[in-house]
Amino acid sequence: MSRLQNKHIIVAISGGIAAYKSAELVRLLITAGAQVEVVMTRGATEFITPLTLQALSGNPVHQHLLDSSAEAGMGHIQLARWADSILIAPCTAHVIARLAQGQADDLLGTLCLATQAPVLLAPAMNQAMWADSATQANAQLLSERGYTLLGPAIGEQACGDVGPGRMLEPAQLVEHLQQSFSSHALQGREVVITAGPTREAIDPVRYLSNHSSGKMGYALAQAAVEAGARVHLISGPTNLAVPADLKCTQVDSAQEMLTACQAACQHADLFIASAAVADYRPAQAADQKMKKSAPDSNLRLHLVQNPDILATIAHDFPDITCIGFAAETEKLLAHAQAKLHRKKVSMIIANDVSDTDIGFNSDHNQVHLVTANGVTALPRLTKAQLARQLIDNIAQLDQ
Ligand code: PMT
Repeated sequence: MSRLQNKHIIVAISGGIAAYKSAELVRLLITAGAQVEVVMTRGATEFITPLTLQALSGNPVHQHLLDSSAEAGMGHIQLARWADSILIAPCTAHVIARLAQGQADDLLGTLCLATQAPVLLAPAMNQAMWADSATQANAQLLSERGYTLLGPAIGEQACGDVGPGRMLEPAQLVEHLQQSFSSHALQGREVVITAGPTREAIDPVRYLSNHSSGKMGYALAQAAVEAGARVHLISGPTNLAVPADLKCTQVDSAQEMLTACQAACQHADLFIASAAVADYRPAQAADQKMKKSAPDSNLRLHLVQNPDILATIAHDFPDITCIGFAAETEKLLAHAQAKLHRKKVSMIIANDVSDTDIGFNSDHNQVHLVTANGVTALPRLTKAQLARQLIDNIAQLDQ
């Protein structure tokens, strides 16, 4: 799976002849597994039609700042929040100048001001325009403000000139985007992550379980890989594709998860427990499917406690930095703090699972980081975005 799998990419196209290459760029991003929304300036539509980009991205193209139908769907602020990355390709001298001034009178300018996502620029213009001191000063200013400039390449230009000003090829831009999702925060570290629910057998066809989808744990695993870690994901049953470049062990029950974690942690530096482990299991799973007995009779299940995987790993492997989650429906921070001390871990990531908009099975989550030093609240984010922030925070604990 590519690093762009499920990443939210905005391709913004401004008005230059290289706009025809943006169609190929969008196609390559979709092939790499990204979700793509396209923004076009008015100038861009002179070079390539929105219909082409709509067909390739699978989404309507965003063209106007004040568009009541778009604001009812994905308006400019939502679009800015949705993005994991914004790539402006081609990026004209005009757009570079407008961004340098912080102009916000069109969709692209507003988006770039409103987003917290990285903005990458692929300049494309005549070589003399690129060399002009105004463009150079604007580009320098943007790069100092954290924008990333990709190119331009040197070569023959549409106008017949030769020199720097060509947009990088779509495949090169995709490669740069892939790399932009890789940090080195956990370079060389070995990380074990649990994810998903466990299933506790009642009989051969029934089990006790919970609503965990595995999305949070899989996003953490992917973010840890992107941060340079060797990752062993221990997963309960989910419907998710296993991220590339990691080892995954599939388990069913809490006891199987504990055994897999104990084996995986022999050489680990970090243990992150995001799985929703069943606290109890039937004392004895029936060998055969249990039959209904007399009408109206009740069934009693005798449950026994499962081992606490996180507490066990924290106790048995004192050199490993252990991180747990707390899924709470009330007294979020008090319960999270109690878990921090009881399980003797370095951090508890607390989520309020009574809010159905976040937590279990949602694509979003909102958490508080609870450590011995205090509590830090993070904003509501997609699980992929949150996972990257969590990995950065966890990497600091591990130093
Ligand atoms: O999978 P998703 O649909 O994406 O949902 C994500 C999530 C809500 C499951 C995740 O964000 C989360 O909160 N995971 C922890 C769920 C949980 O079991 O919380 P808890 O408060 O009951 O457990 C506290 C910690 O101890 C957790 O790190 C848990 O993994 C661990 N634990 C709990 C019980 C047990 N027997 N062994 C454990 O290791």
